[in-house]
Amino acid sequence: MTQRVLIVGATSAIASEVARTYAERGARLHLLARNHDKLASLVSELEHKTRVTSRAADFGELAGIDELVRDAIRELGGLDAVLIAHGDLGDQVKSERSFDEAESIFRTNLLSVIAFLVPLSNELEAQGSGCIGVITSVAGDRGRPRNYTYGAAKGALNVYLQGLRSRLFRSGVRVVTLKLGPVDTPMTVDHQKTALFAKPPRVAASIVLALDEGAAEAYVPSFWRAIMPVVKNTPERVFQLLPFLSGR
Ligand SMILES: NC(=O)c1ccc[n+]([C@@H]2O[C@H](COP(=O)([O-])OP(=O)(O)OC[C@H]3O[C@@H](n4cnc5c(N)ncnc54)[C@H](OP(=O)(O)O)[C@@H]3O)[C@@H](O)[C@H]2O)c1
Repeated sequence: MTQRVLIVGATSAIASEVARTYAERGARLHLLARNHDKLASLVSELEHKTRVTSRAADFGELAGIDELVRDAIRELGGLDAVLIAHGDLGDQVKSERSFDEAESIFRTNLLSVIAFLVPLSNELEAQGSGCIGVITSVAGDRGRPRNYTYGAAKGALNVYLQGLRSRLFRSGVRVVTLKLGPVDTPMTVDHQKTALFAKPPRVAASIVLALDEGAAEAYVPSFWRAIMPVVKNTPERVFQLLPFLSGR
């Protein structure tokens, strides 16, 4: 049977690659993204491979999200898998001086995601099947001066997903937490690229595999599963003395 897939934040560099993978397989796609022109261009590329519908919306408008979900499920005629991919690193230093910036980072990375998860989880729970994948970040595993406002939003999201996964487990719905390390995308355009940076196609392949398997929590790339326990468990005093961990 054709897989029905919703991608939220579909024009992100990573999500676009995920959409291409699903299109290659012939999945029926519904795409949501903020930028109308980028969305139209992605849809016209993917339409050669599969049936695609879409809506443009700013997810900062939280009140409109419930209707976006209902509309998506109507368009798809049900739902087998969803990937929530949008996010915004924001400006860390600004968020330390201006609550508006901190609120905006939380709105994009946490509150808007929960606004999607509430209707999506109830729909899939009633259906008794499906997979919900959400992109979070290794930044959510430990607060660092470099990005702790963004990291706190992603960390809270990790806890939310952990609870949701156990709530939905018995109904047969899978919840997949995708903890990404740094990826070379527009979000990190100003960052100095180290050997730890991954490329979107490789990351997208790991995301699709994790969704297919219904993994509980996937580090992407997988080597972060070995690195993060060290980062998380380094004693605070040592952590603060190591510039590569606690520097700006
Ligand atoms: N790149 C990394 O190093 C890295 C590491 C860990 C986790 N992640 C996560 O990976 C996911 C994908 O990011 P990416 O690296 O692919 O970066 P990206 O290409 O910059 O994508 C971010 C996307 O989020 C969308 N977005 C931001 N605020 C939005 C809003 N209010 N309403 C609707 N859409 C909004 C952006 O839309 P516009 O095009 O309209 O701006 C953009 O499409 C994010 O959740 C990010 O936090 C990235």
